[in-house]
Amino acid sequence: MKVTLKDIGKKYEGREEFTLRNINLEIEDKDFCVILGPSGCGKTTLLRMIAGLNSITEGDLLFGEKRMNKVPSKDRDIAMVFQSYALYPHMTVYDNMAFSLNMRRERKSVIDERVREAAELLQITSYLQSKPSDISGGQRQRVALGRAMVRKPKVFLMDEPLSNLDAKLREHMRVELVRLHKSLGTTSIYVTHDQTEAMTMATKIVLMNEGKIQQDGKPEEFYNRPANIFVARFIGSPTMNIFEGKIENGRFVSNDSYIKAEPKPEDKVKVSGYEGKRVSLGIRAERFRRVEKEPLGDTFECELDVMEMLGKEKILFTKLPNGQDITISVPGYLDYVPGNKYMFGFDLDALHFFDAETGLRIN
Ligand SMILES: Nc1ncnc2c1ncn2[C@@H]1O[C@H](COP(=O)(O)OP(=O)(O)O)[C@@H](O)[C@H]1O
Ligand SMILES: [Mg+2]
Repeated sequence: MKVTLKDIGKKYEGREEFTLRNINLEIEDKDFCVILGPSGCGKTTLLRMIAGLNSITEGDLLFGEKRMNKVPSKDRDIAMVFQSYALYPHMTVYDNMAFSLNMRRERKSVIDERVREAAELLQITSYLQSKPSDISGGQRQRVALGRAMVRKPKVFLMDEPLSNLDAKLREHMRVELVRLHKSLGTTSIYVTHDQTEAMTMATKIVLMNEGKIQQDGKPEEFYNRPANIFVARFIGSPTMNIFEGKIENGRFVSNDSYIKAEPKPEDKVKVSGYEGKRVSLGIRAERFRRVEKEPLGDTFECELDVMEMLGKEKILFTKLPNGQDITISVPGYLDYVPGNKYMFGFDLDALHFFDAETGLRIN
């Protein structure tokens, strides 16, 4: 089921400001759309409006071609999974999963078929007669998913469903959820503050900040062409380096003049409009290259301050002579010694230029 949001806004009663404004979004049938953003940006508010648990102050919500603004939650054909999955403790896993279908007075044979089918897919068949207190956190989360799945909703809504799980289990459940989505094909809207969940699971990401959409699109677009400095710094770990400076003779020169960068030919035209103006240059940590001999092109020297060994990579926290930090990621097998000075250049196709006033992408 396609879900469309047209100029949606939300103002809570008693609040001066709109919590959300101008939300325009098309979520295609079978999409796995992840709504991403820092805490308090309005993700839950938006999801609850789609679910019919919050009223919609302005704009239109459509499921397919049908306007849903006034349709009660129970008639929206959705299922929602929350962070706290609150199973009924006195009921078995089976009864927890069957609960909503029992409420709808479905036939026993239909209920049994649906519960067993979901349990099979979630690999919890052997726990169907257990009580929630007798199974692990990960298994409980699967029961919560199963409870939503048996309703065969048109749209699946999830609000940070993995954030109560430990890191290993979260990693595992991410893959499980992608598999599940592949086999069910149900349009899903998934809220999280975790960029890794968004990058790994989404067919479409919507990144929000302060009640506004910053960018929406495919995960690789977020990584390779962030629309503004906020997006650039929100996506990717370590955080993208940002250098403040200006364009001089078609070339980026940082305020401290330690970083100079020649845009590649395609970018030159776009950047040329900024001659003499303030510009921010973004470079991801993994796009620096060690320069050992005669420097070719734009290079800089920095001192290695602190090093983090992560196994497959090392994160180098380095400083320019004026004390400015640069974070550089290198393969873990290379030798680096804190206290030493190193020369680096960067990949020319790795330069992200932003208007320093507006923060918007230029190239
Ligand atoms: N029921 C409510 N009444 C008034 N303000 C609310 C209510 N629920 C959330 N808010 C406010 O709306 C903003 C967004 O909250 P929320 O949607 O929960 O953000 P997120 O899920 O991204 O962390 C916050 O400033 C929060 O305080
Ligand atoms: Mg929330």
